[in-house]
Amino acid sequence: MRSAALFAMKEDNLNIPRHVAVIMDGNGRWAKRRFMPRTFGHNAGMNTMIAMARTAKKLGVQYLTVYALSTENLSRPQEELEGLYNLFRKYFTKNVKDLYAEGAAVRVIGDITALPDDVQSLINDGVANSPADARFFVVLALNYGARAEITRAVNAAISRGERVEEGDISSLLDTRGMPDPDLIIRTGGELRLSNFLLWQAAYSEFYFTDVLFPDFNAKEFEKAIAAYSKRNRRFGKI
Ligand code: IPE
Ligand code: IPE
Ligand code: MG
Repeated sequence: MRSAALFAMKEDNLNIPRHVAVIMDGNGRWAKRRFMPRTFGHNAGMNTMIAMARTAKKLGVQYLTVYALSTENLSRPQEELEGLYNLFRKYFTKNVKDLYAEGAAVRVIGDITALPDDVQSLINDGVANSPADARFFVVLALNYGARAEITRAVNAAISRGERVEEGDISSLLDTRGMPDPDLIIRTGGELRLSNFLLWQAAYSEFYFTDVLFPDFNAKEFEKAIAAYSKRNRRFGKI
């Protein structure tokens, strides 16, 4: 990203969202257009994701949540899933170290117990080794589904045997301790949530773009932030 443009955004006093969540869609179509296998698109998407985290951090975003694998995606062909698991392996061995070096932490939401054992250990290590004093968080949604997450929270509440308030549900979700997303971006042209952050999105702003995720560069991210900056969030008030 051109740092001059980044600097200008900050200078303009843009309203920077504290938490941005991204539905990174369109990797498969991006690859298909190039007559390449879907995994080629996921590889390109991973590079875009890493660059996006850097841009988000520079702009002053505190939490960047990325939808990398949904509960429903687990029924994709094994070959595609293996390609994704290899990317997770690489991310949690190599790329997380760059995050740590920049004082950033990685977190995970979703039920990772359905992933291969070695991937689970790498993820657990990646989360555990994150700096304790991080001010920027990359939150990976892996085998994440909002319905499954809410169901887990409800069951946890039932096992406590007490009536719950809204705040109790929030504190039982995988996102506990995190602010709700201010901005949810979906690339790839579809206008839906696909089971992402259903509870947390109650008052999120939405930004949809036809850009396929591998092409979602710093300039496109900036455009989303600029659009958010112009929104008038009322939270039901006048
Ligand atoms: C989103 O890209 C990334 C994952 C689901 C892992 P897709 O793989 O859904 O790409 P399209 O939608 O088929 O283009
Ligand atoms: C949403 O994309 C999930 C991720 C980006 C990880 P999908 O491609 O799975 O969503 P649908 O099937 O088009 O709704
Ligand atoms: Mg898709």
